[in-house]
Amino acid sequence: MRILISGAAGFIGSHLCDRFLAEGHEVVALDNLITGSYANLDTAGGHPRFRFYEHDITQPFDMDGPFDAVCHLASLASPKFYYAYPIATLESGSTGTRNMLEITRRDNARFLLTSTSECYGDPEVHPQVETYWGNVNPVGPRSCYDESKRYAEAMTMTYHRVYGLKSTIARIFNTYGPRMALDDGRVVPAFIDQALRGEPLTVYGDGSQTRSFCYVRDLVDGLVRLLMSEERYPVNLGNPAEMTILEFAHHVRDAVNPGLPIQFQPLPQDDPKRRRPDIGKARRILGWEPLVGLDEGMRDTVEYFRSRVVVAT
Ligand SMILES: NC(=O)c1ccc[n+]([C@@H]2O[C@H](COP(=O)([O-])OP(=O)(O)OC[C@H]3O[C@@H](n4cnc5c(N)ncnc54)[C@H](O)[C@@H]3O)[C@@H](O)[C@H]2O)c1
Repeated sequence: MRILISGAAGFIGSHLCDRFLAEGHEVVALDNLITGSYANLDTAGGHPRFRFYEHDITQPFDMDGPFDAVCHLASLASPKFYYAYPIATLESGSTGTRNMLEITRRDNARFLLTSTSECYGDPEVHPQVETYWGNVNPVGPRSCYDESKRYAEAMTMTYHRVYGLKSTIARIFNTYGPRMALDDGRVVPAFIDQALRGEPLTVYGDGSQTRSFCYVRDLVDGLVRLLMSEERYPVNLGNPAEMTILEFAHHVRDAVNPGLPIQFQPLPQDDPKRRRPDIGKARRILGWEPLVGLDEGMRDTVEYFRSRVVVAT
């Protein structure tokens, strides 16, 4: 296949490039590098079946086709960055998604939208199942991200209904692994960075809020299966093993730097209290479930960050 990927220089996008190249496909990559980096494309970069274009997908563009598949990952993705660039976040979910859908329509290609568990907001249904419509504050500070993804889902479904587009929608839950940006403020790199530096781990609230962490290799496998499926409605992809943020802080501390103190800070507005995917649908229609446990996934992730954290002496 010839595959177009937006957000290719980001954490998940770069792993998706590697996976497609390893399977023998040709990859055309787009990224404006607002949070991504060339370093993430170290493996893909030199490959003869790989081309990279630095471009903002919210601006008009034309790509030589045809493409067999279009994977749309470009978005600001962590609270720190979407608070810093709220308009760009809304733009990548709206105009950016529309631009990627238009290329898909032109080429009658398959389409994958990487949506998010944030579509469920602060959920009143637990675990979150795809038929739940969510509890999102449409005017809060997180809404630039949550609503941009909900709009992107609506746009994708509408292209499917109006043009018969072969579209798929992944609702991704917290994913971690090598190539996450150390400074993106998400809990996995934040804890590992603090632990490697020997600093106290910062927990927001009392740490009783829960999350479920999926290793990136598992997630990428789910994305590829979904892209090739005939399912048009959203599918949750994530690891159903749920833990509190405080438990996770202990896990990182014990693995990296036992004995570090844990510091508590006020909880940000609209922070979801509970997050766990119901992955029954992914199991049923994709034959997919996560295979990498937290110990194994964290070992690789800590190893990756160890070589990047510069500890002052
Ligand atoms: N990592 C997770 O836990 C998670 C969870 C839910 C959803 N997602 C979604 O998965 C996708 C990838 O997330 P990630 O964790 O790899 O984030 P990331 O920030 O590492 O990657 C996103 C990439 O998109 C690029 N980008 C942003 N706006 C762009 C634009 N207008 N034009 C071109 N490129 C642009 C960035 O430079 C970056 O390389 C995102 O759509 C995100 O919303 C991720």
